[in-house]
Amino acid sequence: MNTLKIVNLTVKVDDKIILKDFNLDINSGEIHVLMGPNGIGKSTLTKVIMGDPTYTIVDGKIYYNNVLLNELSTDERARMGIFLGMQLPMEIEGVTNADFLRTALTTKEKENFKLYEFIKKIDKTVEMLDMKKDMIHRGVNQGFSGGERKKNEILQMYMLNPSFIMLDEIDSGLDVDSLKIVGESVYNYYKQNNPGILLITHYERILDYIHPTHVHIVSDGKIIKTGDYSLVREIEKYGFDKTNSKKVNSIGVCAIKEKIENE
Ligand SMILES: Nc1ncnc2c1ncn2[C@@H]1O[C@H](COP(=O)(O)OP(=O)(O)OP(=O)(O)O)[C@@H](O)[C@H]1O
Ligand SMILES: [Mg+2]
Repeated sequence: MNTLKIVNLTVKVDDKIILKDFNLDINSGEIHVLMGPNGIGKSTLTKVIMGDPTYTIVDGKIYYNNVLLNELSTDERARMGIFLGMQLPMEIEGVTNADFLRTALTTKEKENFKLYEFIKKIDKTVEMLDMKKDMIHRGVNQGFSGGERKKNEILQMYMLNPSFIMLDEIDSGLDVDSLKIVGESVYNYYKQNNPGILLITHYERILDYIHPTHVHIVSDGKIIKTGDYSLVREIEKYGFDKTNSKKVNSIGVCAIKEKIENE
């Protein structure tokens, strides 16, 4: 059993507190969905778990399998099996997808790395994701469309074989066919490998493919409500604004808060 444990986490960026006393436990075999309005700190959480130095942990602890992550580098966390599929995947100029993945895997697997197996797996995964074959020989995400970048994150996920997976808006920018391919690919990986998953989304449709065991609403820097899939329906009904307007966002959250208080 692999466990990610977040205890009373308070995080700041640019002297602004984003997460405050945030708590969450995710075990292998669990799929946790995190929902909440724009700018509330969902991506911040994933980056802090991954060890992005832009974000400062003011207080609290993050453990993976009882190992304290707070002071570990991103690289060390990745080697422990933690993976982040980013909301906005970056371009890496001059490094091809294949070289990037080969380097990551040789570092992780050392003498156990087998080039032939690697090529076989990458070809199979590219085909499964319906990606263009030449993409593995292009610079990482260089000139990739929004949807292609999202598929590339899933290619990395399959190749790196993580035990804890964070997917930050993996559904944004995907057309309906790609959404199905990505959703089914993630769920098949889950069925085969039993990882813990933290999935961030604004929309219900990805959950047709990736069935959550827990659903959380984030507001004011922490989880304000946890439920099962039916909570997603509630959110759909009360809504988090998609137009990036703070005013409407806070109305959406207020409506949910009010409903929670009345229960
Ligand atoms: N590097 C940074 N520098 C300054 N502010 C930042 C930085 N990263 C995040 N923030 C701020 O922290 C807040 C939380 O951002 P975050 O990206 O975590 O939101 P989110 O919940 O993922 O939103 P969305 O649903 O739009 O993706 C925002 O106000 C954002 O502007
Ligand atoms: Mg985000």
